[in-house]
Amino acid sequence: MNQSILLHRVLPMSKRWIATQAGKGSTVIDATAGNGNDTKFLAELVGEEGHVYAFDIQKEALDSTHARLVEHGLEQRVTLIQDSHANVATYVDRPIDAAMFNLGYLPYSDDLSVITRAESTIAAIDAMLDLLKKDGIITVSVYDGHPGGPEERDALMAYVRTLHQKDVHVARFELLNQRSNPPHLLAFEKMRDFTSHERIENN
Ligand SMILES: C[S@@+](CC[C@H](N)C(=O)[O-])C[C@H]1O[C@@H](n2cnc3c(N)ncnc32)[C@H](O)[C@@H]1O
Repeated sequence: MNQSILLHRVLPMSKRWIATQAGKGSTVIDATAGNGNDTKFLAELVGEEGHVYAFDIQKEALDSTHARLVEHGLEQRVTLIQDSHANVATYVDRPIDAAMFNLGYLPYSDDLSVITRAESTIAAIDAMLDLLKKDGIITVSVYDGHPGGPEERDALMAYVRTLHQKDVHVARFELLNQRSNPPHLLAFEKMRDFTSHERIENN
């Protein structure tokens, strides 16, 4: 099979973006722990002095993530939280360097109807932009091939347009000529210190 460098690097690009702004000692968030691949990556990235907060609404996902962390001796660096990422402010009250979202459903789950939804995804990104340090990065892997995916994608794009460029830069990385529905990536970079009530209106 043809190995496409671009296709294989759409999702890994999120790790490269995160790794430019987070490293040893950083505080970061995995907003959608799932099977723990990204949580493991983040735990390794922040090292022993850093910390990862990993959210998922499904116990099955957090169990899977926990097992993966234990297997690699990384569980001390991670707080697992079974709640919606929209409630991040309840659990994280310190500045963060980066956050990762991987939207959609839990791969290999018996119940593929549990998916991320626009309302909570946007509330979570918005709350994490407040927590984010200046120059910090949030990445979002967006899938639109499953029921509910296109609605979430469109709502996200509408949300992005409400953010003023002096506050946040938003980039989109995608393959443009694919027939299937490959994921695309959004990256949010915080350009100045602000909390939500200090944001600039984007007219
Ligand atoms: C595509 S999977 C994540 C994959 C994961 N990053 C990995 O490395 O395996 C999406 C996850 O988001 C979770 N999820 C859905 N809604 C959520 C919410 N409101 N807050 C937190 N997690 C949510 C699902 O349960 C699912 O496990």
